[in-house]
Amino acid sequence: MIKINKLVIPVAGLGTRFLPVTKGVPKEMLPIVSKPTIMILLEEAIDAGIEEVLFVINSRKECIKTFFEMEELYEGKVDDIKEITQSIKINYVYQEKPLGSGDAILKAKDFVGNNPFAIIYGDDLIKGKSAIKELIIDYDKYQSNIIGISKADSKDLSKYGIIEFKENNEINRIIEKPNINEAPSNYAVLGRYIFNPEIFECLEQLKMQSKNEYQLTEAMTMLMKKQKFYGCKFSGKYFDIGSKIGYLKANIEYALDNDELSIELKEYLKNLSI
Ligand code: UTP
Repeated sequence: MIKINKLVIPVAGLGTRFLPVTKGVPKEMLPIVSKPTIMILLEEAIDAGIEEVLFVINSRKECIKTFFEMEELYEGKVDDIKEITQSIKINYVYQEKPLGSGDAILKAKDFVGNNPFAIIYGDDLIKGKSAIKELIIDYDKYQSNIIGISKADSKDLSKYGIIEFKENNEINRIIEKPNINEAPSNYAVLGRYIFNPEIFECLEQLKMQSKNEYQLTEAMTMLMKKQKFYGCKFSGKYFDIGSKIGYLKANIEYALDNDELSIELKEYLKNLSI
């Protein structure tokens, strides 16, 4: 059986929904309590047995690189970062122009080679069991492309790619940002994927879409004509930390789980009496 041991995390987007802070700090580096999101994503990957990761960055996001460099000054104080760097090999590739998720993933072609691989979006946080591990379990079962999906509120369906199922968990197609009454289900595509390497042939054929971007969904639609795709209904709770409200919710929920903070935070929230 082929082992999924390579992961791509695209983090080269502009983060326009979270301006102005994202002009100076990548959203993927903003803290969830005290850890930057990318650290939590790497912990999810290590839990799933991933051995090597490629960050798709740009020159305005060099702080992601320096974050993982070990300095004597911090010796003994950042053991959790050290543990990560000892468990997973970290690589970088550059996408200087934010030409969309499809273009970002195409930059990973040489890194991936000819094996199936995983993708985690840098601004999609899933709290709970390692979601990418759950996708890998499904890959082992179906031996085909897997997309991480979860139920979305009706009011949010028009923000996401929505799944039209064939039968069981097999996917027929993905409808990008449908109106509520045109949505074929309430299952949304939420930032976790496992693809066969043939996705790169599709990414290479992509045409530019609206907003001058190459969209990963288009490449998936092309590959769906030749290969099967399955939805993995991951069990964790999803947060879009690229949106202000998603970021705030994630911080509250992670803090409520933090022994140092939970009692005082609960008390504080109760007394807010909104
Ligand atoms: P998003 O579409 O959520 O990020 O991409 P964005 O474009 O930065 O967001 P807004 O809409 O402007 O606020 C999902 C992930 O893909 C990366 C992003 O950094 C994010 O982690 N991405 C997106 C790239 O690496 N390159 C791109 O061209 C676009």
